[in-house]
Amino acid sequence: MNVKEAIINRRAYRSLDPVEITNDMIKDFSELAQVAPSCMNKQPWKFVFIYEKEQLEKLFSTLTPGNKWAEKASLIIGIFSKPQDDCIIGERNYFLFDTGMASAFIILRATELGLVAHPIAGFNETKAKEIIKIPNEYQLITLIIIGKHSKEINPVLSEPMKLGEKNRPPRKSIEEFTFMNKYKLD
Ligand SMILES: Cc1cc2nc3c(=O)[nH]c(=O)nc-3n(C[C@H](O)[C@H](O)[C@H](O)COP(=O)(O)O)c2cc1C
Repeated sequence: MNVKEAIINRRAYRSLDPVEITNDMIKDFSELAQVAPSCMNKQPWKFVFIYEKEQLEKLFSTLTPGNKWAEKASLIIGIFSKPQDDCIIGERNYFLFDTGMASAFIILRATELGLVAHPIAGFNETKAKEIIKIPNEYQLITLIIIGKHSKEINPVLSEPMKLGEKNRPPRKSIEEFTFMNKYKLD
């Protein structure tokens, strides 16, 4: 799979089967995040890999009701950072951008390995931070839910979510978000 294929094949699937999590897999993800670009090479990202059953069960209790499907995760990556760990240039805070890039590298590699790597925002941040022992000053930006795509649609999914398993949710037209030379025409 080349980069373009990984980008196109990546989907936020919600029907998951278990997958074996190995040290090599975690090392591989970590090494790819390590080489992501960042403002002045600040590398603001931090990742907690959660695969022990007991820790996973605790984290499941922090999920919003709509994210019950994520209880099938074999691995959850907790991604955290804080503004002071990256460039702050006037009003521009780069920590989310840079952490997002490193996270995207992990997601694409997981896709290449035939896994689902689905980022979620629907969890109780305070509770999740307590469970994985992240100090208060950090933002727990996302949890990436990792598993294998199941052929069986998870019955906990809502109807729109079930549709999302078959077809990628619609996107804006390219004209809506791309501009040539100037954003606003004079
Ligand atoms: C930051 C972020 C937060 C998300 N949070 C959730 C979530 O809480 N629950 C969920 O089911 N999907 C979540 N998603 C997945 C999106 O809904 C999904 O990426 C989008 O619908 C497009 O589908 P696709 O990724 O399969 O193309 C999130 C995605 C991102 C990037």
